[in-house]
Amino acid sequence: MLPDSFLTELKYRCDIEQIISSYVVLKRAGRNLKGLCPFHSEKTPSFVVYPESQSFYCFGCGAGGDVVTFIRKIENLEYLEAVRLLAQRVGMPLPEEVQDDRAAQMKNRILSMNKEAARFFHQVLISPQGKPGLDYLLSRGLTRRTITRFGLGYAPDSWDSLRNHLKGKGYSYEEMAKGALVNHNKNRDSYYDAFRGRVIFPIIDLRGNVIAFGGRILGEGGPKYLNSGDTPVFKKSRNLFAMNFAKSSKENSLILCEGYMDVVSVHQAGFDNAVATLGTALTPEQARLISQYTNQVILAYDSDGPGQAATRRAIGLFEPTGVKVRVLTVTQAKDPDEFIKKFGPQRFRMLMEGSANATEYEIAKLGAKYDRTTEDGKVNFLREFCQLMAGISSPVERDVYIGRWAAELSVSREAITQQVTAIQKQRQRRQQKKEAQNLQVFSQEIPVNRQDVQRARNLRYALAEDKLIVFLMRHPDCYEFVAGQLGPDEFVTDSNRKIFTLLCDRLARNLPVDMMSMASQLEEDSMSRLSWQMASSEGIALNKQEAQDYINTIKKHALQKEGETIASMDDKDLEEYIKQITANKK
Ligand code: CTP
Ligand code: MN
Repeated sequence: MLPDSFLTELKYRCDIEQIISSYVVLKRAGRNLKGLCPFHSEKTPSFVVYPESQSFYCFGCGAGGDVVTFIRKIENLEYLEAVRLLAQRVGMPLPEEVQDDRAAQMKNRILSMNKEAARFFHQVLISPQGKPGLDYLLSRGLTRRTITRFGLGYAPDSWDSLRNHLKGKGYSYEEMAKGALVNHNKNRDSYYDAFRGRVIFPIIDLRGNVIAFGGRILGEGGPKYLNSGDTPVFKKSRNLFAMNFAKSSKENSLILCEGYMDVVSVHQAGFDNAVATLGTALTPEQARLISQYTNQVILAYDSDGPGQAATRRAIGLFEPTGVKVRVLTVTQAKDPDEFIKKFGPQRFRMLMEGSANATEYEIAKLGAKYDRTTEDGKVNFLREFCQLMAGISSPVERDVYIGRWAAELSVSREAITQQVTAIQKQRQRRQQKKEAQNLQVFSQEIPVNRQDVQRARNLRYALAEDKLIVFLMRHPDCYEFVAGQLGPDEFVTDSNRKIFTLLCDRLARNLPVDMMSMASQLEEDSMSRLSWQMASSEGIALNKQEAQDYINTIKKHALQKEGETIASMDDKDLEEYIKQITANKK
């Protein structure tokens, strides 16, 4: 537990606006700031930062909290780790804190175990036992230098060699299973190596930790690749293979490939800025991660159907990030790796230089789709072309394409421009309507936890609880006034009771009750509920009289429940009950 004085000072030094701005583009909106939510994919900003209460809330996905919650979510950290990162950022030394954060400890164990496993796989690869693996990698054209640079390895074709090695280093089977290095056979209650007879690609994060592994089978058979599942230190959707190298590349772009082998080959061919997703399609999180490092991406996906579909999808995902996309068209080879092997690095460089930008790529696709020598084809081509143009935000860029294609199709430039403007206006109207709807939904009720049935059933009481909590946070001096009349037991919803209990506990001990100080004691869902309550009461003043009304409302629930209980009593119980209350009165 960190001392409150430390958290208070940290809070003063970490301005939420400044911290969040380094991850999200924020625009001022009255007293608050708005931007595109980094936790879900959206095109209209519903992510709001409240400098006054030093909190944030997303009306789209319900994420919310204080600056620590934000860092935890965006960096995937435990509470203490997030505090440590923030403290580092503002240059505050951490007090001699107790390392009692079990989850953080488990992460550290898994990370050191992974490092050990990577070392083991690599040692095996360069030993006689690893000959099949080494031969395989060499046959694929990799040099020893590349193999060392990427720390590639070999998992022997055995059920227990990694398991035994790690056991010898003091790791338990449970830890190995948590780190996805061994699998558990429940029937026989035994543990066995997850990677067997495969060459190993260690996945390394931006801080240099080995966070997971990918393994390729030698030759044919399936599955071709095996990837670590998600573990406490690894989320597929948030990491990219070789990002540890690419982040410090001198190139001002990133090359995004489909697979491990492509990345390794492209690096060997002289491009240290290639990365790949880890056995899944690109996610919005990865697109955002990439946008933090570069403003230009070159998509180098496979030339087959799925590769082209993935290209289009990726273009869509990069659009809201503002990253410029170019598309590499690999011809006469399945993927970049094969291309380099067939034609050499020089030709690959030429291919890179000729890569088209995303708009050119899309137009070329349209060109292939419609036969422009027929009237029909020309009309259809134009319709989709205008849709495409309407999505380009730069007027200059738009003008260049429209000019070029008006001439090509012998259609007047004005006609095309008019059509494009009309589409843009229509989209704007739709967007505004959507936003208005969002707002309406909000002013009614957005349960943070959509499955909160208890809340939905007792909405009237829940709303009174919400308001009372906000009142107390704003007026800590009214603690006695509230607590003298109402205890946590009388709260109707469990979620609010949790918050109220903590509030009372802290107020009774004269501790601050702002979000930052409470964050360490609240679960993520409570945190997000609380920030929603604060956010939705923005600008609404609450006075003592209103607080009294809320207290009365909440108290009514207990009475109502009592009434229900009395109604369901039989005569004997009722008699007993009356006796009891008369006794109490005396
Ligand atoms: N992949 C996977 N599981 C599979 C097949 C593929 O996770 N069974 C992922 C891997 O990350 C792989 C990527 O998808 O790197 C691309 O797959 P594919 O194009 O089939 O493989 P290549 O990268 O071409 O690999 P290789 O050249 O070794 O055949
Ligand atoms: Mn390949």
